[in-house]
Amino acid sequence: MSKVSKFFLGILIGAASLIITFRIINQAPSQKLHLDDKFRAIVDNSGCNMCHNPNAKLPFYADWPLLGGKIKKEVFKATARIDLTIPFRQFEEGTQVDNNALNKIEEVISNGSMPPFSFTILRPGSAISYKEEEILLEWIERQRSRIDME
Ligand code: HEC
Repeated sequence: MSKVSKFFLGILIGAASLIITFRIINQAPSQKLHLDDKFRAIVDNSGCNMCHNPNAKLPFYADWPLLGGKIKKEVFKATARIDLTIPFRQFEEGTQVDNNALNKIEEVISNGSMPPFSFTILRPGSAISYKEEEILLEWIERQRSRIDME
């Protein structure tokens, strides 16, 4: 094989393994899980609690100059807009999840604005895939029907 074709073969293999790795990381939770557990897995994986949490434990790079300042500002802004620990706690305690929070979450999930691009680009697999979006929307519907039954 010539040097040139070896070079291109190398690039091809590299690209293929990147795509495969990304697909594995970004897989939706296992079908076998209960809807609630799928929801927990997606939320954990997508960092919602890293930003929308007044007691957020920031990633190590939050102390870096430039980028760190931006992250701290973003977390501050995120919690000011919505503290997601409140609806998530209501869910874990089995009480009604605040409907206003459900509406807001539904909106950002449907329009794909969360997690922000600046975050997903640093954490491969944290973006919400189409399948994950469907699961989250189903979970939101489930919380609402729970409210109707009470
Ligand atoms: C990197 C930090 C970060 C992550 C991770 C993140 N968010 Fe956000 N979120 C923000 C910021 C910043 C805003 C405010 C956006 C603005 O004002 O432009 C916001 C806004 C929102 C809003 C809108 C609140 C309102 O008042 O309309 C909701 C709902 C929300 N995020 C939910 C989520 C969910 C659900 C996740 C996980 C899937 C998530 N966010 C992940 C930073 C984050």
